[in-house]
Amino acid sequence: MRAVIALSPRLVCSRCGEERLISEYAYRCSRCDYPLEVHYDHDEVYEAFNIEDLADRGFDMWRYRELLPVRDPSSVVSLQEGGTPLVRAGRLGGELGLEELCLKDETRNPTWSFKDRGSSVGVSMAVEVGAGAVGCVSSGNMAASMAAYAARAGLRCVIVVPRKTPMGKIVQMLVCGASLASVEAPYHVITRAFIENSVSAGVYSVHNDSPMRVEGQKTVSFEVAEQLGWESPDWVIVPTSSAGNFSAVWKGFTELEARGLTAGRPRMGLAQAAGNAPIVRSFRKGLDHVEPNPNPKTIASGISNPDPPSGLRALGILRESRGCGEMASDEEILEAQGQLARAEGLFVEPAAAVPLACLKRMLADGVVAGDERVVLLLTGSGLKDIDAALTSVGRPVELSSLGEMAGFMGAR
Ligand SMILES: Cc1ncc(COP(=O)(O)O)c(C=O)c1O
Ligand SMILES: [Zn+2]
Repeated sequence: MRAVIALSPRLVCSRCGEERLISEYAYRCSRCDYPLEVHYDHDEVYEAFNIEDLADRGFDMWRYRELLPVRDPSSVVSLQEGGTPLVRAGRLGGELGLEELCLKDETRNPTWSFKDRGSSVGVSMAVEVGAGAVGCVSSGNMAASMAAYAARAGLRCVIVVPRKTPMGKIVQMLVCGASLASVEAPYHVITRAFIENSVSAGVYSVHNDSPMRVEGQKTVSFEVAEQLGWESPDWVIVPTSSAGNFSAVWKGFTELEARGLTAGRPRMGLAQAAGNAPIVRSFRKGLDHVEPNPNPKTIASGISNPDPPSGLRALGILRESRGCGEMASDEEILEAQGQLARAEGLFVEPAAAVPLACLKRMLADGVVAGDERVVLLLTGSGLKDIDAALTSVGRPVELSSLGEMAGFMGAR
């Protein structure tokens, strides 16, 4: 790697312009509470980043290192995250009447979710600023990812999860040696308390919409564009909870366009579960803020934040991108999970099936046309939450003897 891999990045509030140092444990604007974002000196980055250089680099997210905020290559904590396939889904597309459907398979990251991109940048930055510990509050995937990257960095990892977090994710945290507690309280309330305590506890927080997480996760857009020959798709549909990732995906496409690497940006589909769709409902009502959901209830446990901290930012992106907020019932989500597996062989957790369930509605409503190029983000693996899938699949046929095998094998 080169000696300097990012230039003059700083934390900025996109609403009021407040600036903070990149090294601060700062996540939101002190004036307007808007999430801070990393801004770069456009000309310096433009000079440093050259797509011709990519030919000599491995296909993981650090191939875009000049566009990330970590300065010292020795700070980088990586498990070769990113570089996930963009699967052309011909059979599934055919079932839906879509000419070009692509699945960005984020389940193939090191801890089997998209969170690894953000954890890699976040934990690298924690190393760079000399933090002794990292951590987050999480519905599962993010904490499982943080535990792995903290272990890789040799840092302590502090995690708090809501009581009902699936065991497939809990075990990932424990096996990596994280300090883990669960508590019976709403996700967003736990997160707020965690962030408030993080500076005094010396824990560098890399939560769902922290600036460093957004930086790592924006690289999915760089990859999608590169995999499409430096073109933006017509639509990207993102399963959304805190809206940290939705913001990250948009930031990625925005940076590409600003640097002249792509000619346009996609329209953004914000996909939520009907049992917890505060952003979609607020967008449809034309509100200028997101009304929290008093009673979240969905099988898609990964997207169950009822008071999304980046909800306001997501409303702005929906408007700017001429996007669409859509939601799907638990039944539709499980149906989509099965359809994805049967048509393309990809087994994702319920949250990651929500974009497909929402796409079906968007096609039925004529929001998406059959000749548009659509990318769905498959954010997490189905093996992390098998209880959810078991509610909708059958059970194995029990043969009472080997003599029944020939009949079973020939049956259609
Ligand atoms: C599988 C999966 N998909 C989507 C999301 C939503 O991401 P965000 O909270 O950034 O909106 C999460 C969040 O944890 C998740 O675990
Ligand atoms: Zn501000």
